[in-house]
Amino acid sequence: MSDLKQTYFAAERKRDDEADRLRRLDAFYAEPTQNWLKGAAPLKPGARVLEVGAGSGGMLAWLAERVGPTGDVLGLDMDLSRAAPPTAVVRHLEANIYDAPAEPSAFDLVYARLVLMHLHDPEAALARMIEWAKPGGTIAIADLDCTIAAPADRAAPGADLFDEKLHVVRAAMVRTGLMEPAFGARLPGMMAAAGLQDVTVERFDRIVEGGSDWSLFQAENNLLISGALGEPEAARIVSDFMSRPGFFYHDQRLVMVTGRKP
Ligand SMILES: C[S@@+](CC[C@H](N)C(=O)[O-])C[C@H]1O[C@@H](n2cnc3c(N)ncnc32)[C@H](O)[C@@H]1O
Repeated sequence: MSDLKQTYFAAERKRDDEADRLRRLDAFYAEPTQNWLKGAAPLKPGARVLEVGAGSGGMLAWLAERVGPTGDVLGLDMDLSRAAPPTAVVRHLEANIYDAPAEPSAFDLVYARLVLMHLHDPEAALARMIEWAKPGGTIAIADLDCTIAAPADRAAPGADLFDEKLHVVRAAMVRTGLMEPAFGARLPGMMAAAGLQDVTVERFDRIVEGGSDWSLFQAENNLLISGALGEPEAARIVSDFMSRPGFFYHDQRLVMVTGRKP
């Protein structure tokens, strides 16, 4: 597990702080994710689902409701202490995605949100997800395209500075390998190249106001990674704008992609 802890940016955070961050993250993205999955990956009672990188476990509970008492939901994460305990329907597998014991061709749906963009080898992770799915089963992956983040009004006071510092922060993400800011944009092509069929893309993005709950959460996340990025000043300036009521910006995009295993 020690190698993993060096690669995942939040692995060394205090348990309660990271549990709270993951719970808030799930709460913000639960609705668009659930709307997407209801349409693109409908589940019958008794279906089998694997969630990779289950985090707070918020989606595990929702998936368990969808498959009902005869279903099976497996949550895989390198740390499941932040999720609710297993139930008759929800199982836990605390493991690294790269070498977790496989249950080959077992699942109707294999799902991951905000996980692959943090991994050093997302192609290998995708190959494992495909291995776990039944033939005809669905792979559903949601990740961010952060490159669309920009001031909503280019003429607003400070807009150029905000834009410039967003670029500095994104460049540092790439340079340090902390995460891949444009990952969501290349995800559909990556899933098609892996041999998945009927690749379908949806997206969720908004213009948000500085100082809103979501924007303050983003500002906190930005400061959280600023040390690892080696760009504390740029991150501070970005977070200041994100905390400023009256300043509006294009938020990062959640790109949600499904494909079918042949
Ligand atoms: C940004 S969080 C997203 C959590 C959740 N999917 C969500 O969207 O709310 C990423 C999750 O992936 C897990 N993770 C990161 N790298 C992993 C790996 N190599 N193997 C297993 N889990 C990993 C982390 O522990 C964390 O819970």
